[in-house]
Amino acid sequence: MIRLEHISHHYAKEPVLHDISLQIEANSFNIISGESGSGKSTLLSVISTLLTPSKGKLFFDKTQSTQIKNMDIFRNRHIGFVFQFHYLISHLTVYENIALVSRKSKKDAQEVLKKLGILDLENKYPDEISGGQRQRAAIARAIINQPKYIFADEPTGSLDSKNSQIVFDILRELDATVVVATHELGYAQKDDTMITLKDGRLC
Ligand SMILES: Nc1ncnc2c1ncn2[C@@H]1O[C@H](COP(=O)(O)OP(=O)(O)O)[C@@H](O)[C@H]1O
Ligand SMILES: [Mg+2]
Repeated sequence: MIRLEHISHHYAKEPVLHDISLQIEANSFNIISGESGSGKSTLLSVISTLLTPSKGKLFFDKTQSTQIKNMDIFRNRHIGFVFQFHYLISHLTVYENIALVSRKSKKDAQEVLKKLGILDLENKYPDEISGGQRQRAAIARAIINQPKYIFADEPTGSLDSKNSQIVFDILRELDATVVVATHELGYAQKDDTMITLKDGRLC
């Protein structure tokens, strides 16, 4: 469970997030939606510990983020990140990109690739596969160590609709608490938890 209490943020003078309180249940699938500039990436950055908000509190279960002694270790153990751009290393194969961060066996890595439908691409380099396949490889890298939390910012931002649907279906089925920021509404389903922002406020 993740809880936000009265989170506000401003980068410069202008406030970007206004007094946001919400709770994200364990193993739920959550979509942060809203127009461009509404604060989705900022909110996701706060929830995912990448950005310390100007005001307010963030809790992971009962622990406030400020009480986490070593944030690098916490992130490394518990959080998987997926971004719009895959950030795979072009000189490493799909398998090697995952092995680079993996604390699991080769067999486990191959299981994940299989689950994401890209096991046959394990020896390909990122520029030898499609955008949708690259994003699935980035998801494989994010989930290989079985983090409790997966945060994805516009993970389908550079994909066509077919691949976007595949990526949403994969993220939704993960055995983790998943939060996706997206301006694309077409992939939401009725059981998803929607966190909708307008000008930095929940609505
Ligand atoms: N690093 C930053 N420095 C200053 N302003 C920023 C920064 N990042 C975002 N903003 C501003 O904060 C507002 C919300 O941006 P963002 O969270 O990226 O929204 P979204 O992801 O919904 O497009 C925008 O007005 C944007 O210009
Ligand atoms: Mg954004």
